[in-house]
Amino acid sequence: MKSKIFLGMLLFVAVIAVAGIGYAEYGDIVLGKKLESMEKAGVKPVMFPHWFHRIRFKCKVCHEDIFVLQRGANDINMMAIMNGEFCGKCHNGNIAWEPLYCDRCHSWDGPVPPYTAAPAAK
Ligand code: HEC
Ligand code: HEC
Ligand code: HEC
Repeated sequence: MKSKIFLGMLLFVAVIAVAGIGYAEYGDIVLGKKLESMEKAGVKPVMFPHWFHRIRFKCKVCHEDIFVLQRGANDINMMAIMNGEFCGKCHNGNIAWEPLYCDRCHSWDGPVPPYTAAPAAK
């Protein structure tokens, strides 16, 4: 019996390890929910360098006070950012550069991956 529990724990740890590795692969998140208005404004979809931010801030800084932990689940727009919400909590010329340099965020050249309703990887 004891060995079964041990085996179970081992499996549990292995799953966590695999999930961890799988996660790092898509460290960057493409945001293009508002693609139509972005095209109108002449900017590309946003490439959010998740990993870049994750090594600088604890998850708790952003999740879930600023961003719900699921791609596409946040209604981000430029008005809100300029008003100091979402990315603008930091990209305000104080903690990080102001949201005036469009192309630094709107830098994604490829297609926008589809949005799924699947819950985010934990
Ligand atoms: C600087 C802010 C920030 C930090 C720090 C941060 N994240 Fe995120 N995270 C985001 C944003 C922005 C999104 C995308 C939200 C959206 O699409 O609306 C996101 C999305 C996610 C998702 C969902 C991905 C998907 O494909 O649905 C997961 C999981 C996640 N973050 C985990 C973490 C973990 C774990 C940490 C800490 C190691 C972390 N995040 C730190 C901003 C951050
Ligand atoms: C918790 C604070 C915080 C939030 C929230 C945040 N950022 Fe940042 N971001 C930073 C800091 C700090 C830097 C580094 C600034 C510097 O180097 O001067 C940075 C840098 C960046 C860079 C440049 C990365 C590089 O390789 O130099 C991009 C692009 C970026 N952020 C996009 C975003 C987007 C898009 C969002 C919202 C989805 C966002 N950030 C939200 C703090 C934040
Ligand atoms: C700090 C990062 C950042 C910067 C800088 C930035 N944006 Fe955005 N922008 C975003 C994010 C994140 C979204 C929401 C993406 C999504 O979920 O589809 C967005 C959405 C948009 C949208 C669609 C939604 C809306 O508000 O109409 C437009 C248009 C837009 N940005 C234009 C601009 C322009 C023009 C600039 C330069 C003046 C700019 N952005 C600078 C991060 C940024």
